[in-house]
Amino acid sequence: MPDITLTTLLEHKARGEKIAMLTCYDATFAAASCDAGIEMLLVGDSLGMVLQGRDSTLPVTIEDMAYHTACVKRGNKGAMIVADLPFMGTATLEEIYRQSATLMRAGAHMVKLEGGAWLCEAVTGLAQRGIPACIHLGLTPQSVNIFGGYRVQGREAAAAAQLKADAQALEQAGAAMLLLECVPSSLAAEVTTASKVPVIGIGAGPSTDGQVLVLHDMLGMSLTGFTPRFVRNFMQGSASIGDALAAYQAAVKDGSFPAPAHEFNA
Ligand code: KIV
Repeated sequence: MPDITLTTLLEHKARGEKIAMLTCYDATFAAASCDAGIEMLLVGDSLGMVLQGRDSTLPVTIEDMAYHTACVKRGNKGAMIVADLPFMGTATLEEIYRQSATLMRAGAHMVKLEGGAWLCEAVTGLAQRGIPACIHLGLTPQSVNIFGGYRVQGREAAAAAQLKADAQALEQAGAAMLLLECVPSSLAAEVTTASKVPVIGIGAGPSTDGQVLVLHDMLGMSLTGFTPRFVRNFMQGSASIGDALAAYQAAVKDGSFPAPAHEFNA
């Protein structure tokens, strides 16, 4: 796989080619995901739940994120590595710069921050300093205690309007990518159409420019027994993990994933 850059992603968006992204936390899965043609590896703070067995992402530290980003970098074969700023990594502008630098030094090509238009100054500052930023909107798991659970976001007209305004402001501020989690498909479609930068979805329907899933979810592995509605188990019908990764990549590329069963309505 040729090295995936921001230019590659913009070209994909321009010609309507879907972007396949998957979470990844170690070198072996990084290599296997690249072999399957997965273009973006997200070192997500979901590692707190799927690797560390915690009940939320809140306990994850910048040291955890840097360690797993460095592991993924060692196995990477050309994918773009995106790493999450952990809970309270966005506490101040200084903290955002410091933690983003740590993740970039560990091997990330882009950082992901959970939030809204209040991150505009940080997004501009990061871009000026050479760090592309992806902003995670919708169901932002670090705010689970504000939301009162892992609930679909943007269903009410005011919340949908706020999300669209946030997306537009962040793009104007210089965001390199947006990620929408658990929002109605119609809202995700509107944001994607209005946006010049790639929009990746998880539980956001088929219209986004690309899809991401948590690795363990799409391999059918769950500590709690709960599987979110937007997940498909790609081990079903696959003879090996490598085949499941390739089936996911193919299903994202040909648009067969996500199917209507994985969507949320307004
Ligand atoms: O941490 C993570 O894995 C994520 C995905 C759920 C998008 O942010």
